[in-house]
Amino acid sequence: MESEMDFHTARALLEWQVELGADEAIGDAPVDRYALAAKPPKPAAAPAVPVAGPVPPAHAGDPVAEARRAAEGAADLGALKAAMAAYQHCDLKLGARQLVFSDGHPEARVMIVGEAPGRDEDRLGKPFVGRAGQFLDRMLAAIGLDRGSDDPERAVYITNVLPWRPPQNRDPSAEEIAMMLPFVSRHVALVKPRVVVLMGNISCEAALGRKGITRLRGTWTEAYGTPALPMFHPAYLLRQPLAKREAWADLLSLQARLRAPA
Ligand code: URA
Repeated sequence: MESEMDFHTARALLEWQVELGADEAIGDAPVDRYALAAKPPKPAAAPAVPVAGPVPPAHAGDPVAEARRAAEGAADLGALKAAMAAYQHCDLKLGARQLVFSDGHPEARVMIVGEAPGRDEDRLGKPFVGRAGQFLDRMLAAIGLDRGSDDPERAVYITNVLPWRPPQNRDPSAEEIAMMLPFVSRHVALVKPRVVVLMGNISCEAALGRKGITRLRGTWTEAYGTPALPMFHPAYLLRQPLAKREAWADLLSLQARLRAPA
């Protein structure tokens, strides 16, 4: 009997093929549809046992209202993580390996809100650990910040708008953002950072209801009830090295803000 391939192996193989350029799913042998039609039809399934009225799925209800209720009920970061893990409305969860909650020091003065986990983050369960994350670490080091520091003055706390990796790293939909937003809001409320950095367009869309990072970046605003700085996403900076000049100006602005009296 053929052994069944597990989900993650099948997905890794599929992703590998997509990276090689395969963009169409076709069989390796022609299918004779006349022969298929000649096969005897399957016996009809047994009639369903009637139930007393429609049974709503376990996660029926307004996804945003339920997220708000679950998030507001979380008294600390552990409870928030558990509430997110128990949340059933976001289908991104079905394709992800694990929930990516946060990294860094929960008492840090700086909280970074990124977009969503990518392949490396999905595998390791921490935000910003792939190429873009390594570049982010270098950006932070340039102004004396370090997500691994025990000192809240130097430390950084990092999370994402979406805790599950979207398939093929596609942009999350407006619905997915809306249903996860109450969790992000609560996350910021529990960490109480002095400033929030909105990393990239999705993070700005979620917090400010606006995209257009080229215009938004570098101008302090307010998000989640906290002073917030929109910045170019490090993945964008890796693709557009000329934009590093603006990113450097934004880092200096962040550093100046942290040096100013609270
Ligand atoms: N990009 C993000 O926005 N977040 C991550 O965690 C990784 C890449």
